[in-house]
Amino acid sequence: MRILSGVQSSGKLHLGNYYGALRQFVQLQDEAGAEAYFFIANLHALNTIREPKLALELTRDAAITYLALGLDPKKAVLFRQSDVREVLELYWILGTVTPHAHLERAHSYKDKVAKGISPDFGLFAYPVLMAADILLYSADVVPVGRDQVQHIEFARDWAVKFNTQYVPGYDPADPDGKERGHTPGILKLPSSRIQESTAVVPGIDGLKMSKSYGNTIDLFGDEKEIKKRIMSIKTDSTPVEAPKPLELVIGDEKVPSPLYQLLKVMLPESDFRDVDASWKAGGKGYGDYKKKLLEAYHATFGPARQRYAELVADPAEVERILQEGAHRARSEATRLMDKVRGAVGIP
Ligand code: ADP
Ligand code: TRP
Repeated sequence: MRILSGVQSSGKLHLGNYYGALRQFVQLQDEAGAEAYFFIANLHALNTIREPKLALELTRDAAITYLALGLDPKKAVLFRQSDVREVLELYWILGTVTPHAHLERAHSYKDKVAKGISPDFGLFAYPVLMAADILLYSADVVPVGRDQVQHIEFARDWAVKFNTQYVPGYDPADPDGKERGHTPGILKLPSSRIQESTAVVPGIDGLKMSKSYGNTIDLFGDEKEIKKRIMSIKTDSTPVEAPKPLELVIGDEKVPSPLYQLLKVMLPESDFRDVDASWKAGGKGYGDYKKKLLEAYHATFGPARQRYAELVADPAEVERILQEGAHRARSEATRLMDKVRGAVGIP
């Protein structure tokens, strides 16, 4: 079984990225019988990062973050999306069988435009490049946050379209071609995998934690800034003695209390049980809970911070790991592209 996922290098990675994505990645590298491919989606990031120096820096930072969190290049293939140029060729070919109407339905496109990101072609075509990322390496399972599930479904749909168009004997009801007379598809159909309990990590304002909302707690940011962010998590004016509510009113909406949710995500289960009991009984102030969260942050990421600093000081080693990853990824990619070119009639 091949597992593949990526994160965009469009900003420093934050707790939402970790609990929604990176943590699973690192665990999956140890899954029996699985082969893991992880990459930094630096081509996707060009939709929002328009400064070359920053683009380079964020790409390297994302690689260092993966490695610091325990991604082991002996177990998993770690590479930069842009190092395997075949992805751009597959992106074009897939685009020729991609219905425009699907892209118009993409939630992430609509959300991003609503957030003020320029509605350029690259942003509109983003899911096609993402599908190429997945299909180029014949991934079986794609671990992602909930917001990305639609993209994986698109990748499946377009793989079926491609195979139906170009693979004689392909039957969409038997995509692996198990029955007599059927041919397996060239593009393998992927499935998504989400981790329910931490599917959406809230930011300090109670909305989904996201780079584009400025409400993040970074994984390896400046310690003072992290403390400041944690101390400014939105709460209400419930007095110390009173039980704390599980929801906050923001504007005219009720949202789950971000402090409670973050404690739930970050604390070991037995510690969280105590927090949960006192939260509901009263007697502790929000300040105490924020301190607890800060402690949990340091306990969870302290050792990784150390590794992060070591890797920042050794860019040559980081580059070596990425080059080796690119080499392994490219050998898969060239094999698939030979078949794709043959199927569509490109010499
Ligand atoms: P951002 O919203 O900060 O731009 P990305 O869209 O680059 O983050 O997301 C990278 C990965 O992290 C995706 O798999 C996404 O689903 C996951 N992710 C991002 N933010 C969160 C969050 N707040 N909660 C859970 N998962 C998240
Ligand atoms: N779109 C993903 C995100 O914003 C990043 C990504 C790009 C990705 N290509 C991918 C994730 C392929 C999984 C598989 O998080």
